[in-house]
Amino acid sequence: MAVGSYPCCLLILSMILILTPCAYQLQPAEVLSLLRIKRLLNYPAILSRWNVDTDFCSYEANPYVTIICYEESITQLHITGNKSAPPLPRSFSMTLLFATLYRLPNLKVLSLTSLGLWGPLTGKISRLSSLEIVNMSTNYLYGAIPKQVSRLTNLQTLILDHNMFSGRVPDLLGELPRLSVLSLKNNSLSGPLPDSFSSLKPLRVLVLSSNSLSGELPDLNSLSNLQVLDLENNYFGPRFPSLGRKVVTLVLRKNRFSGGLPAEVNTYYLLEHLDISFNRYTGPFPASLLSLPSIHYLSISGNRFTGMLLQSMSCNGELEYVDLSSNLLTGNLPTCLISDSKNKVTLYSANCFATEDHSQHPLSFCQNQALAVGIIPHKENKVSGAKATLMIGITGGIFGSIFLGMIIFFSLKKATMKPALNKSQRSLAEHASVGYSSQLLPDASYILQTMKLGELGVPPYRSFSLEELEAATNNFDTSSFMGEGSHGQMYRGKLQDGSLVAIRCLKLKKALNSQNFSRHIELISKLRHHHLVSALGHGFEYYLDDSSVSRLFIVFEFVSNGTLRSNISEGVPGETLTWTQRISAAIGVVKGIQFLHGGMVPGLFANDLKITNVLLDEHLVAKISSYNLPILAEHMKCEMMVGSSSSGLREPNERTKYMDKIDIHDLGVILLEIITGRPIIFNSEVVNIMKNQLQESIAADGIARMSFVDPVIINACCDESLKTVMEICLRCLSKEPTQRPSIEDVLWNLQFAAQVQESWRRYSHSSEESPLSPSLPSQSPIALSC
Ligand SMILES: *[C@@H]1O[C@H](CO)[C@@H](O)[C@H](O)[C@H]1NC(C)=O
Ligand SMILES: *[C@@H]1O[C@H](CO)[C@@H](O)[C@H](O)[C@H]1NC(C)=O
Ligand SMILES: *[C@@H]1O[C@H](CO)[C@@H](O)[C@H](O)[C@H]1NC(C)=O
Repeated sequence: MAVGSYPCCLLILSMILILTPCAYQLQPAEVLSLLRIKRLLNYPAILSRWNVDTDFCSYEANPYVTIICYEESITQLHITGNKSAPPLPRSFSMTLLFATLYRLPNLKVLSLTSLGLWGPLTGKISRLSSLEIVNMSTNYLYGAIPKQVSRLTNLQTLILDHNMFSGRVPDLLGELPRLSVLSLKNNSLSGPLPDSFSSLKPLRVLVLSSNSLSGELPDLNSLSNLQVLDLENNYFGPRFPSLGRKVVTLVLRKNRFSGGLPAEVNTYYLLEHLDISFNRYTGPFPASLLSLPSIHYLSISGNRFTGMLLQSMSCNGELEYVDLSSNLLTGNLPTCLISDSKNKVTLYSANCFATEDHSQHPLSFCQNQALAVGIIPHKENKVSGAKATLMIGITGGIFGSIFLGMIIFFSLKKATMKPALNKSQRSLAEHASVGYSSQLLPDASYILQTMKLGELGVPPYRSFSLEELEAATNNFDTSSFMGEGSHGQMYRGKLQDGSLVAIRCLKLKKALNSQNFSRHIELISKLRHHHLVSALGHGFEYYLDDSSVSRLFIVFEFVSNGTLRSNISEGVPGETLTWTQRISAAIGVVKGIQFLHGGMVPGLFANDLKITNVLLDEHLVAKISSYNLPILAEHMKCEMMVGSSSSGLREPNERTKYMDKIDIHDLGVILLEIITGRPIIFNSEVVNIMKNQLQESIAADGIARMSFVDPVIINACCDESLKTVMEICLRCLSKEPTQRPSIEDVLWNLQFAAQVQESWRRYSHSSEESPLSPSLPSQSPIALSC
């Protein structure tokens, strides 16, 4: 007798067999086994009629007991107890049960459900080598699923639902050559699904719901027979499973899937039931799901899908259940989803649809939340081509005198930097070169401020999932820890694409609701500039009860070349920056400040600028790494040290009035260190003493001046350039905020110094005497003359 390969056929087969009177008597040994089983199961009421004289092969099947024989041997044994059967008494033993079952050597189908069986499933099950279908659900079986199950080479269906199995899904299960149905729902299994499942070709149904399984799924793309995949209520994710196109039922509900849905979903032409509710999906809701050719049931509720639905959108007429609730959808509910029919259910509460009822959030809620998960609506604030050209024209006029010098400066710099790149940096460098070409434009701040983000050479701003950040930092392992400051902890991380990032982790007070939060995120998302350590994105963790944010992660580009100080005053002798490179770094810092002050609204002032907070990238581009984010000031335990510098701005009025001048003073201290090459402790007395020395040395002649200056640069710097920087430095350090120069003024002076230096450098190589200063005697150090 052939046993149906699929459980659905069992019923039909059983019915045929019931109608055909069994001509054979069961072997006495098998009769004894059945009676023994009755005893082992503690004489359940449903087996009360079993005794030595029972003709088991003609036993009338009922919903609780079915026995099917082939000739003189039992091939199928089904016993089902009461749904809530308590565990069998202590005398019960699974080992004894199986020892008894061995006496049924032709058993192909074994179904012992809701009988109160308890204990580990013994590995000896493998001796029942004819087994094709095993159903032992709703019992109290515990321990690991024995790997010996994999020796049941005829096994097609294994159902162990509603037990207490723990441990991992055995690797060897993936080697069962005929396994087509595997259901392990409602156990305590953990760990990932083994990769061996990728080769379970006959697998049709895989149900793993309500366990503690986690991680990425193996590639199931080659399982062309897979129709049902139910992973509900586990910790799978974050990547959408890779599946064949013939999937009919896909349940990913309550896991840790995130990101957007892959486009392949639209090719699942047999998909009838799709439930991805209560995950962390973000991104636009693909409305095409509503019109998949076979779809009946669709639930996306409890995610953060965005997008606008239209009344005119089309749906599959067979749709019976659609749940869009608790997402960030806007617009109108498609007309095809509205129906009076009782057979059709559409749920859509807690979105931002334009409906009359009170089930919806205001539109701004969805917009803010969308922002909070990083889907920033497109803003039409690009500078049009014509406008940009006009700006180049105007600023070109203003900075005409230095324009040419800057071009030479930057192209030279570019040429000298290139060979230093190693292979892994190449793609970065290619991006960066796009940034450089915009550098060749006149260096007017306004152009830079309107520079499109794409030209930065950093990837577009986006949101990061918690899982992604955990993976990048090896679960925020101590080996990734970079340091902790008043601005939270810093971790080094490596994203999946191999790029390095620095992740700042801020624990927030519970008071920060998501509305408030998105305001901050909007600001952070603007912190992208060539001379800032730019924000690449953010991730967050939120409290499930009220959706307020518990931890915020800001992901920054990783800047590889150390701090400005480590390249100047604490650098390896002989490898510190040249004068030309120092001016260029200073110009970078100034442009960064300019952006912080004026490049966004509201500007960020009092940024506590320090030379140790200026980092250099592989092209020696200076980038400011710490800025005065309101979220840091508002929500950290430590207060922002506004005016912690020696700027003398303690009065609140003065402080708000001359906010920008705090940064100018701090910039002066940075310039001081650039000039002297000595680490300057940030202390008002030290700064005062040095300021006086600076003043004296500016007034002194060329050679005397050199005693103040870093000896490393003396021989390769032009006096006029040096003096220009010293003078602007002195003005920055003015006690009176009003006497400090504007940031534009500083920039102009530094650019002038750069140009003079560059011209000097070029001519000093071709002739002993600089054409710009023919009057200077040639016996004086050539370095001093311009
Ligand atoms: C289920 O349990 C009830 C009492 O708890 C009992 O009356 C009934 O016979 C049981 N059914 C079976 C099939 O054992
Ligand atoms: C396994 O047994 C349970 C309990 O009797 C039943 O509900 C379920 O349908 C069975 N599964 C299969 C595939 O036969
Ligand atoms: C899980 O199985 C237990 C018995 O092991 C049962 O009491 C419980 O109701 C089941 N839960 C679900 C969600 O099916």
